[in-house]
Amino acid sequence: MVKKITLESKIKEVYAHPVGHDLIKRILVAHHIKDVIITNPIVGNIKLQTFSNYAKKNFGNFESLLTLLNYETDTPVSGNCESKEEWWKEAIFYQIYPRSFKDSNGDGIGDLQGIITKLDYLKDLGVDAIWLSPIYDSPNDDNGYDIRDYYKIMKELGTMEEFEFLLSEVHKRKMRLIMDLVINHTSDEHRWFQDALHNQDSKYKNYYYFKKTQDGSVPNNWISFFGGSAWNYYEETDEYALHLFSRKQMDLNWECEEMRAEIIEMIQWWLEKNVDGFRMDVINYISKVEGLPNGNHIIGDMIGFRGIEQYFYGPKLHTYLKEIREKAFEPYQAFSVGEMPGIGMEMGKLLTGDDRGELDMMFSFDHLEAPGQERYDSYLYNLNNWKEYLIDYTEHFGNHCHMALFYNNHDNPRFLSKVNPDPQYREVLAKLLATIQFTSKGTPFLYQGDEIGAINKKFQSMEEIEDVEARGLYCTWMEKEGMTEEKVFEKILSGTRDHARTPMQWSATTNAGFSEEKPWIASDDDYKICNVESQTVDIESVLNFYKQIIVLRKKSKTFAYGETKFIKKHRRNYFLYFRIDGENRYFVECNLSNRSQKRFYDTSKYELVLSNYKGRDMKLRSYEANIYRVTKKN
Ligand code: NOJ
Ligand code: CA
Repeated sequence: MVKKITLESKIKEVYAHPVGHDLIKRILVAHHIKDVIITNPIVGNIKLQTFSNYAKKNFGNFESLLTLLNYETDTPVSGNCESKEEWWKEAIFYQIYPRSFKDSNGDGIGDLQGIITKLDYLKDLGVDAIWLSPIYDSPNDDNGYDIRDYYKIMKELGTMEEFEFLLSEVHKRKMRLIMDLVINHTSDEHRWFQDALHNQDSKYKNYYYFKKTQDGSVPNNWISFFGGSAWNYYEETDEYALHLFSRKQMDLNWECEEMRAEIIEMIQWWLEKNVDGFRMDVINYISKVEGLPNGNHIIGDMIGFRGIEQYFYGPKLHTYLKEIREKAFEPYQAFSVGEMPGIGMEMGKLLTGDDRGELDMMFSFDHLEAPGQERYDSYLYNLNNWKEYLIDYTEHFGNHCHMALFYNNHDNPRFLSKVNPDPQYREVLAKLLATIQFTSKGTPFLYQGDEIGAINKKFQSMEEIEDVEARGLYCTWMEKEGMTEEKVFEKILSGTRDHARTPMQWSATTNAGFSEEKPWIASDDDYKICNVESQTVDIESVLNFYKQIIVLRKKSKTFAYGETKFIKKHRRNYFLYFRIDGENRYFVECNLSNRSQKRFYDTSKYELVLSNYKGRDMKLRSYEANIYRVTKKN
């Protein structure tokens, strides 16, 4: 049991609370303050009451934060134990964004048959498990993350028979397949929502958040992640309904037992088909605070999304996750990884610890932006941030939990471009990122295109932007005072998810070998120099580096389970560590900057097994990454 937090509690007590810990840590990191400040008795012993008076003026209601903290009554168990062996801790995952992967029938849209033709490619790369972004029936307001029918396949992508064939072909190759599960919301075209809108006595009204207000104003001040209020008004019923994402993605009411039962039945239905597990979309948002109270303005301004503290770690989140696991995942031994925006390490332990009966793993996003920056800011990312994040998790997440290692997905511009868009570094940098990802402790998740060093597209105008999020935010920002169109487009260019959604670059032929016809989203000319076909035959390519590092990772279990010992961890721009598992030892040496820098750790006696450079130099070259085997002789 964790100690209840009141205004009489001291800062150090709040920091010892799992949710308090993550919130304080987030604020410290954003302001570049080290957490040792909390161990300073003067700071640590300040009572919350002291802040309260100040806070009332500047922060509004402090109580809502206390309520949020006190929903959590558990603390994570200590991580000092052996890591249990599991297939998903040893596997290499590969995320496919089906629309953009491979088109088989010339309509410009990637499809299931297209994926089937590439299964041998994935197997050859060393992939063990595929995560498919949503393929369910959908009007595609958010490319499938708005599901109209959970039991059907989107017609542009194929048929149920084709899906079953795909699954059997995946299994035939001894790979696994996990589906995307979007259960925080459905499309407004889902029959439940339509019935709720058009049938006065519909039981489905209770499946969503429908609200009527006395004076006709919106029910609360929450805003949508895609811009504007989180509420739609419906003339049909003279009510508002909640949508945290696009205007067509309506939030489900998880308080409703009947709705939960239908969702669980649907998950079982897919598991009966033999899918191996699920990636769960924004799963930490499913429990909302009762009564949907207004969000705090200051938190809203700080984080950018007003209302978020009322649902990002809601009061019944653990209960709902336990229910899904017990009724659906456990009987089928299905794997689960939750997408968890805003969840820090301590909360993560309570959501994914193997003693908890909730999820197996989570995607946290704290490493994808530099502290104090947001995705739509235009800046260059310093790799020391990723290093600090990895050290923190490796040292403190504990063996009850297992982290997901990734730096790209379908919701982010390409990490490579964000770190350094200079083409002279493209290959070495891509290989450095792979080195860190595949030699760290955790499960690597590749996103399509990582393996060839995919970069951002040079979009020229809003006409080229398909992303519903970027389009929504564009309108919001254009309405803001003082934002010129040029500035707004610069933001869009920095943050749009479309950078990750351009067609997979298979060859130098028309449309990157993705489709015979014009793709649904255009690629630029980059495919002429960067594509799978040319990299397959070039032994020094990024693709062949990935293949080699995957072979290396799978040779022993050292990388999956071994201990990590960091060397000189406070030296900026160096990332040096041993991976140790009994007799097996590897040493990883990375230069995180584009400048060459002196070596001060002697690796000359170690046996080099993989490098992103040829030959050895006195200094570590730009973004140099080396993996050595350390034997007794050394
Ligand atoms: C997270 C998904 O990854 C993203 O693509 C989507 O827009 C939102 N959730 C809403 O489903
Ligand atoms: Ca197609």
